[in-house]
Amino acid sequence: MANLSIDYMGMKLTSPVMAASSTLTKDIANIRKAEDAGAGAVVLKSLFEEEIRQDSGLSSDDISHSEAYDYINADAAMVYGSGEYLEYVRKASEAVGIPVIASINCEGGRWWTDFAVSIEEAGADAIELNISFVPFDASLTSAEVEARYIEVIESVKSKVKIPVAVKIGDNFSSIPYMVQKIKNAGADAVTLFNRYYQMKINTRTLELEPVHYYSETQEAYNVIRWVAAVSRQCPVDISATTGVHDEDTLIQYILAGAKTVQTASMLYKKGFSAIRDLNTGLDKWLDKRNLVSVKDAVGLAMRKKIRQYHTIERIQYIKVADGHLLQ
Ligand SMILES: Cc1cc2nc3c(=O)[nH]c(=O)nc-3n(C[C@H](O)[C@H](O)[C@H](O)COP(=O)(O)O)c2cc1C
Repeated sequence: MANLSIDYMGMKLTSPVMAASSTLTKDIANIRKAEDAGAGAVVLKSLFEEEIRQDSGLSSDDISHSEAYDYINADAAMVYGSGEYLEYVRKASEAVGIPVIASINCEGGRWWTDFAVSIEEAGADAIELNISFVPFDASLTSAEVEARYIEVIESVKSKVKIPVAVKIGDNFSSIPYMVQKIKNAGADAVTLFNRYYQMKINTRTLELEPVHYYSETQEAYNVIRWVAAVSRQCPVDISATTGVHDEDTLIQYILAGAKTVQTASMLYKKGFSAIRDLNTGLDKWLDKRNLVSVKDAVGLAMRKKIRQYHTIERIQYIKVADGHLLQ
């Protein structure tokens, strides 16, 4: 039996497989199921900045004014400070022995700093900042968007002692550069990538409608590319998320350089016992390769040959015939 334990952001995980933040992890019974099935850690459902903003009737522009900011802060404390989310963190931490990672969904700067401290005090082992500031405003520059991410990370890191991971989407002009900046701002890990809410247009009613769907395995390939590109350049722990439905995808992420993977859709489709199957599959694969520890597999494919780097960087189909890529 190979050793599946891994050090992630300074925490000792018994497995690299984590239950990702989702509505499933909102339920303490499910968090126990994740632990029983062998998850190395669990990420709690995010606390959404937007929810509090909607309750208060303020827009994201309003909160940059200090009066509104103070109001919002008080409101956040009122709604969540002694209430729901902290209680949820407390209960989850007491329920299981595996690390519990609280998740904050934020768009703006100072907003969550004080609340992050309360989350730490409630017993969270780490925080994942689910930063989803995606600019739809043509007057915002990339530099301004990036600065907003860095501001959030620096302010949270200046207040808490527990490790902080930063979960981002793949909508940056330069992902490796952004990850480097995130690391330099103090992040202990980066989670690649969030999978955003999708919408479609109903061609009969012309209404915009949400698309509810779980991920497919193929969606992992874009993420694997970026895990590989980032891991060989940025010395930061990487957690990969999107499309892990079987051990083969889990192993690919690890070989590309991820220390942990986070799965949500698989849990919806197959239940928590699927985590056990992932661990078993990983263990068998390590044994077959005579690798005694999963640590030996992290980034292994990237250490193999320089030629692999060129494959990562190839983004165009140059020659394709009858569905086959010609070399
Ligand atoms: C129903 C559902 C709810 C989710 N809620 C959150 C959330 O609150 N915060 C977050 O960071 N990610 C959330 N996610 C994203 C997952 O954590 C995960 O990163 C993403 O679904 C990709 O993994 P998957 O392919 O295994 O689903 C949610 C995903 C699903 C399916």
